[in-house]
Amino acid sequence: MRKTIIAGNWKMYKTIVEAIELSNGLKREFYKLDNQGIEVVLCPPFTALSEVNEVITESEIKLGAQDCYWKDEGAFTGEVSCKMIKDAGCQFVIIGHSERRQFFAETNDTVNKKVKAALASGLTPIMCVGEMLAEREAGKTFQVLEGHVRGGLRDVSAEDAAKIVIAYEPVWAIGTGKTATPDQAQEAHKYIRDLLVKMYNKDVAGSIRIQYGGSVKPENTIDLMKQPDVDGALVGGASLQVESFSVIVKKASEVVK
Ligand code: PGA
Repeated sequence: MRKTIIAGNWKMYKTIVEAIELSNGLKREFYKLDNQGIEVVLCPPFTALSEVNEVITESEIKLGAQDCYWKDEGAFTGEVSCKMIKDAGCQFVIIGHSERRQFFAETNDTVNKKVKAALASGLTPIMCVGEMLAEREAGKTFQVLEGHVRGGLRDVSAEDAAKIVIAYEPVWAIGTGKTATPDQAQEAHKYIRDLLVKMYNKDVAGSIRIQYGGSVKPENTIDLMKQPDVDGALVGGASLQVESFSVIVKKASEVVK
């Protein structure tokens, strides 16, 4: 059984005061989350991690960062290590988001280094994969997914791979309001899971949670979460308000598979 995991990627939004307000509101909504059999992770910007951590300490809500660097420390101006992220209270870290691939020169190789560093430090990577619109239209979706998954998990042992979360985020659906249909999501998720069977084995592939991301909203949550290989969501825009994010979590928790 894979526990549904809903993560909020706040991207470059929320000052510290705003982040405290949002996390306080969410904490009030989900006081006893564990009873709902669902895992909820908030991924604020680095500047607000410690404050959000303080707000959520006595709740079941977990904390994640949006990126990391693969060295523990050193002369790497502007970077933040996994050790520092853990120190701020995180259990998760998003790696290889398409915005980092598009705008900040993230490659499968840097994703792989970050995934290994996160695992070595005891953080759970949420490794993002997904095709651009032109790649989908050219019939290259599976080829791109294979490159992202194999490249990101190169030299990652079966034991470590079993711990990660993968987020399938078709780039054309991110922030566009255009969600993949439940069938499109299921097709991509099944492809990824079958690939994981080939790379590792059935047990490992069966334990890795695969989230869908890209314009997840309260209205489309149930149909997406009903898909057999969709194990949660990575939510951007709709995670920035208490109301929309808490409705997404509640709806996801109602889906029994
Ligand atoms: P969106 O973003 O929900 O705003 O489309 C998802 C993401 O980029 O993780």
